[in-house]
Amino acid sequence: MSEAAILMKDLCKDFKVLNRHEGLKGSIRDLFSRDYKTISAVKDVSLTINKGEIIGYLGPNGAGKSTTIKMMTGVLEPTSGEIIVNGNIPYKDRTRNSERIGVVFGQRSQLWWSLPLIESFNLLRDIYMVKQKDYEDMLELYRSLVDLEPIIKKPVRQMSLGQRTLSDILAAFLHNPDIVFLDEPTIGLDVSMKAKIRDLIAGLNKTKNTTVILTTHDMGDVDALCRRIIIIDKGQKIYDNDIDHLKSYFGSYRTLKLRLADDTWEEHLIDESKEDIMQIILEKQKLSGVKDIQLQEISTEEVIKKIYEGGVA
Ligand SMILES: Nc1ncnc2c1ncn2[C@@H]1O[C@H](COP(=O)(O)OP(=O)(O)OP(=O)(O)O)[C@@H](O)[C@H]1O
Ligand SMILES: [Mg+2]
Repeated sequence: MSEAAILMKDLCKDFKVLNRHEGLKGSIRDLFSRDYKTISAVKDVSLTINKGEIIGYLGPNGAGKSTTIKMMTGVLEPTSGEIIVNGNIPYKDRTRNSERIGVVFGQRSQLWWSLPLIESFNLLRDIYMVKQKDYEDMLELYRSLVDLEPIIKKPVRQMSLGQRTLSDILAAFLHNPDIVFLDEPTIGLDVSMKAKIRDLIAGLNKTKNTTVILTTHDMGDVDALCRRIIIIDKGQKIYDNDIDHLKSYFGSYRTLKLRLADDTWEEHLIDESKEDIMQIILEKQKLSGVKDIQLQEISTEEVIKKIYEGGVA
């Protein structure tokens, strides 16, 4: 048996979509049209994800992240290529695959809307045939990681978005799956709820050695949770390595923050090997007066932005 949690080789997913035409005439024509075009949502992606890793699966809007996750969870069948999750082919062994994975799609709850959370948990215990002892241990672990009191007796429909996300994540880990997929779990949450959710994910990964595949547009999630990131763009993998490796690639970049005479802050991303930081500060001083200076390492946010813009060869 291989130690890999997920293996993908030259994985592709194409969607055939109707070529839409404009106007009323166009819409009527579309009704009878066989004019299709093919979108390559995922293109020749190969990767290996090891057990226990937390992977940041990143990319701009429409890059193909959710499509990849849907193939990993068995919801979508690949157009071509190979995919193995926990030793199963997800779309063929969908039931067996789903017994050993957990899924959270941000903003869409998997829980029973009108049931108190504990009832949902009990149902999940029965569906996944979790042993009572393991179930109780898991609830005990949850209690050590988060305050269950405000949510455990509440139906999901009465919960705030943050409470619902928290509940969804707890539900996804309840049957102690090998892999949990989190598609934008912190979307729409406030800063303190984001921190709680990140701590919870980190705690569960650490205690249970669960592999976590995380897609997010929030680089705070990445900083808090991921050592390794995989970036896709237009369906293709463009980066797969440790986040530190990426930051050292941009090692000569600095973020220069200047507080100007009118108390506004201005930010500059500077490549130290090409530009003279002192020179920039002096020029700004002449132009608008500088009251305060901060010089920082390049942030993950800026690193990722640079890559999306084509900053890495
Ligand atoms: N069911 C579908 N039918 C047709 N096209 C689809 C379908 N699902 C996704 N696509 C297209 O495939 C591409 C990748 O979409 P996907 O949802 O995987 O992107 P994403 O990386 O998750 O983006 P986001 O960050 O916005 O969630 C997009 O061009 C999208 O329009
Ligand atoms: Mg998506």
